[in-house]
Amino acid sequence: MQKVGFIGWRGMVGSVLMERMRAENDFAHIAEPVFFSTSNAGGAAPDIGRELPPLGDAYDIDALAELDAIVSCQGGDYTKEIFPTLREQGWKGYWIDAASSLRMEDDAIIVLDPVNRDVIDRGIDAGVKNFIGGNCTVSLMLMGLGGLFKAGLVEWVSAMTYQAASGAGAKNMRELISQMGAIRDGVAGELADPASAILELDRKVAENMRSGDFPSAEFGAPLAGSLLPWIDTQLENGQSREEWKAQVEANKILGTDSTIPVDGTCVRIGAMRCHSQAFTVKLKKDVPVSEVEQLIGAANDWVKVVPNEREASLQQLTPTAVTGKLDIPVGRLRKLNIGPEYLSAFTVGDQLLWGAAEPLRRVLLILLG
Ligand code: HSE
Repeated sequence: MQKVGFIGWRGMVGSVLMERMRAENDFAHIAEPVFFSTSNAGGAAPDIGRELPPLGDAYDIDALAELDAIVSCQGGDYTKEIFPTLREQGWKGYWIDAASSLRMEDDAIIVLDPVNRDVIDRGIDAGVKNFIGGNCTVSLMLMGLGGLFKAGLVEWVSAMTYQAASGAGAKNMRELISQMGAIRDGVAGELADPASAILELDRKVAENMRSGDFPSAEFGAPLAGSLLPWIDTQLENGQSREEWKAQVEANKILGTDSTIPVDGTCVRIGAMRCHSQAFTVKLKKDVPVSEVEQLIGAANDWVKVVPNEREASLQQLTPTAVTGKLDIPVGRLRKLNIGPEYLSAFTVGDQLLWGAAEPLRRVLLILLG
């Protein structure tokens, strides 16, 4: 494989992908990287430490058709427009995509190689050409709980999520901080006076957050100082689309023969880029917590079991501790009062890394051989 095209490399996920590829020297494995743009064809390509041609036009089907592989972080609309046209023209290259559009197609594999390298390898052998990154919460759940799935111990999982602003986009991250600033600015005087009445301060905060002036164009509602119990669109069965993805994608990634039920409530919270999840796992049998810890901790190189202790949890199991890192801490591991087969667990992961960019760069390396 010689020519690899990159599209959407300037956006948030694309930028994280570029950072990671530079850090790991991935470009050394690519004979001819070619960068494209939807708006700046002819402009300068990014700095990857070697001479590159100017940016190609991301809508130029003939130029795309010359590539052996395309890595797109451009988004679902671009995929829906370009991918079918390319394939209809007989293009046989690898399509590697961060967008969800093709995930559930029969001829696509959802990639998360520390969890499903076997599924990826079988797909490559069978001639699969489309390799798609999974939904971030699903990928982070499987990075954390992969050891239990692999051991065949999971009867079902309920995942209650605490999802960061970055999952909604870069503008949403900015809006979250603007909301925090607006809340603080609205009570600057009261905050400066330790003797001011707390209930008055609280009333002003609520009034500010409910006012039409509060910056909420992106989220559609205040997130800072609050939360949003709905992510993505509304489905007819009462689930949000984000909640629907959990079961279908997790089972597709794992390549299960019979569906393992996964469901829960997905909630946006005021974290920047780490998604957290609280799981209730129904185990198929009563396994001691020590064995659960061993299985979880041994599943891949990034998962870390955090002792179920207050100090360790507050230091290691938070978005603040994990942001910008590949680590997947899993903690709060204990059996619930409900019964010895009911396990509680909590995990945190950077949704831009394992939740988006990392599986893409790794599958590209696998395909490059
Ligand atoms: N859908 C996710 C979210 C992000 O809104 O947090 C991407 O998987």
